[in-house]
Amino acid sequence: MEKLASKVQGLELLLKLTLELCSERSLEKVLEKAWAELARVMKAERSSIFLLDEEKGELFSFVALGAQEIRFPKEKGIAGASLTSGEPILVADAYGDPRFNPAIDSATGFRTRSMVSVPLKVPNGERIGVVQVLNRKDGRPFGKEDVALLRALASVVGVAIHTAQLYREQQRATEAVIHSIVRAVEMRTERGIPHAPLVSSFCEIIGRAMGLGEEEVRRIRWAGGLHDLGKLSVPDRILLKGEPLTDQERPVYESHALMSGRLLEKMNFQGELAGIEDLVSFHHKHYGGGGFPPGGPQREEIPLGARIIAVSDAIWCRMYPRWGEKPMGFQEALHSLAEGMGVVWDPKVVEAAFQRRAELEEALGKSLADQGKREA
Ligand SMILES: [Fe+2]
Ligand SMILES: [Fe+2]
Repeated sequence: MEKLASKVQGLELLLKLTLELCSERSLEKVLEKAWAELARVMKAERSSIFLLDEEKGELFSFVALGAQEIRFPKEKGIAGASLTSGEPILVADAYGDPRFNPAIDSATGFRTRSMVSVPLKVPNGERIGVVQVLNRKDGRPFGKEDVALLRALASVVGVAIHTAQLYREQQRATEAVIHSIVRAVEMRTERGIPHAPLVSSFCEIIGRAMGLGEEEVRRIRWAGGLHDLGKLSVPDRILLKGEPLTDQERPVYESHALMSGRLLEKMNFQGELAGIEDLVSFHHKHYGGGGFPPGGPQREEIPLGARIIAVSDAIWCRMYPRWGEKPMGFQEALHSLAEGMGVVWDPKVVEAAFQRRAELEEALGKSLADQGKREA
């Protein structure tokens, strides 16, 4: 009866861990959660997760054993033995086992008595590391049931790590593509003064000042980088005219905002960039309903990201005007926004920009210096 109850409890914990890990996309968080949960679920004093560094032929502790990373040859110790064989290993008396590597205990000050070591595998069977639990809390050695449970847990952890690694790779690739797109748009549409990268930095600073979460700040930062993508569809004679536009030319220029949205919609971003097109489509929409495109959302209906891009963009546009107006310095450009608060700009966004003026100015200086370095 007691055995059955502990089996049911094991299955419940396995299910809970599966749900928790599978909803996590950050590799660090997957590892952290897995590390903490494994020891708890297995009623062990400690757990360790070692990941395989294929290039160096080493296993390294990722989150286990505190902040200090431990590395050793991938075939060494009990961890190495279970990685090499692909099988779980149950050790009742660590110091009595010739495969045991006491160096880790010496480095951490821990005394291992018994352990279970199980290889971490990804869905195609490839081994990516090892998980271990050390010393049962009740002082008894681990048994066959512990091995079965850790094996099941390891398969969940393996899949979660693999998913998080794939997600990270995909994110890196997406970021690289976006950077190239932003650079290409800048070369074609700007006059050698960094625009989108700076708007992007401003958006990040203002978003943080408004207390937005990390993921939302990242979304707005990317939208800030891509907001003028649609300028690719505006002819040079209008884009680079340098003097006021005619009534015929203005709508062509203004069409760039919706065009940015349409182009991004076609890219069909997934994950945290999904729906980013709504942020760029309305970056010239006024808080009170004016601006362009005509009609559409107003006030709080305008996505907050679009309202943040609008303010970030306006500071820059007043410093480097496109149509022959007198350029303003940073402080003057920022203060000039006070006039349009509530009508053109969301007052909360302008206030956040005022609050962080020093950071915005620093980002401006950095962006201009980076540009100078590129040109030198
Ligand atoms: Fe724009
Ligand atoms: Fe812009």
